[in-house]
Amino acid sequence: MIQAVKGTKDIFNEDIEKFDYVVKTAERVFQKMGYKHIISPTFEETALFKRGIGEGTDIVSKEMYTFEDRGKRSLTLRPEGTAGIMRSYIEHNMSRDEKLSKLFYWGPMFRAENVQAGRYREFNQFGVEAIGVDSPYLDAELIHGAYIFLNELNLKELEIQINSVGCPECRKVYREKLLEFLQPKLEHLCKDCHVRYEKNPLRVLDCKVDRCKEETVGAPVMIDYLCDDCREHFDKAKEGLDIFGVPYVINTRLVRGLDYYTNTAFEIVTKKLGAQGTVLAGGRYNNLAEQIGGKHFPAVGFAAGIERLSMILEEVKLKAEKKAFIAIIGEEAKQFGLSVVKNIRETGCYAEFDTEFRSVKAQMKSADKIKADFTLIIGGDEVAKNGAVIKNMKTGEQEFKNIDDIINILKEESR
Ligand code: HAM
Repeated sequence: MIQAVKGTKDIFNEDIEKFDYVVKTAERVFQKMGYKHIISPTFEETALFKRGIGEGTDIVSKEMYTFEDRGKRSLTLRPEGTAGIMRSYIEHNMSRDEKLSKLFYWGPMFRAENVQAGRYREFNQFGVEAIGVDSPYLDAELIHGAYIFLNELNLKELEIQINSVGCPECRKVYREKLLEFLQPKLEHLCKDCHVRYEKNPLRVLDCKVDRCKEETVGAPVMIDYLCDDCREHFDKAKEGLDIFGVPYVINTRLVRGLDYYTNTAFEIVTKKLGAQGTVLAGGRYNNLAEQIGGKHFPAVGFAAGIERLSMILEEVKLKAEKKAFIAIIGEEAKQFGLSVVKNIRETGCYAEFDTEFRSVKAQMKSADKIKADFTLIIGGDEVAKNGAVIKNMKTGEQEFKNIDDIINILKEESR
């Protein structure tokens, strides 16, 4: 028996209900903030990710699904969305149309990671990118949007952590200080941290190994080395968050796993998922456009793991939509019954019926199975009276009503 590949999964039943609910909620929140949907390809030229995300990152050095196509081009299944969106922004000259492009997307991403609960090799992200403006209030507005989104999902026990990772200028100064601090401790650090020490010492602060965590207590932190511009940006972003009433903590050790970040970096973390607790993460990335060959386009964005959010979602508050099951009983009711189904559907309400026209009992069972709110029972008598017996499946009450009244009830209840 062929099974799904390790790290991939089928999403169905309650899981897809939650998944869709997360996506719909995110779309609603960000559409109301002026964000527009964009779909970009799931694979890109490998060079895009190497240059955009950074050769020294775990993602590029260990986790990419890279392959050669028939034309001997090196292609990669996208490990994240931001680089592709920025490529698309530059390629289509979107800056010509508007100063600020506000885009959202969702879909599968691919990383060859060690599989754990909440960590997959194919997973889905909902992401948002605002490209063209360098305002710290845009950072704050975006984090506020993320906060509204997670509130709408009614998620609790979340912590919004923010930090500033500065700009290449101030990071250079900080990097020296950090190397100075780490040097005498190097022998006690893990193998990965030795590599990080050489390639990207900031990532040493993000190491999950206990010994490394202990050794780096008291390490110098980036926000103490910010240049004047970066400090001002950070202060104003915090001011924006305060005005929007977004609760946050400053995590001076927050460094992101992708090289493109500048200034504001943030993560929203739950305690419910153990080690894979980050449900949403992002920040500003003012230099990505240039790194992949474009002009200078400052930008800020985030992505949320849809599966991770689905895992901690407790209730799915679906739109108050009422389901109707139309039980069509006997040959003489078929034509009229189907015209009722047609009318209900054309008014935009939910309707299902049994295409096998089985017994009343079997059809009532189907109505229960789909958790119908109302069952309309239509036999010869009802056809003659141009109506149906409408049964409220919760209370069990039932009475005859004509079709127009029934459609009005369904419309009213589905509002
Ligand atoms: P990231 O931190 O790599 O950032 O991923 C964002 C979120 O995707 C994570 O917080 C997590 O919820 C989810 N995620 C990541 N890897 C996995 C995995 N293997 N399995 C399940 N979920 C996962 C980015 O991808 C950036 N592009 C975010 C961004 C957008 N920054 C600016 N704009």
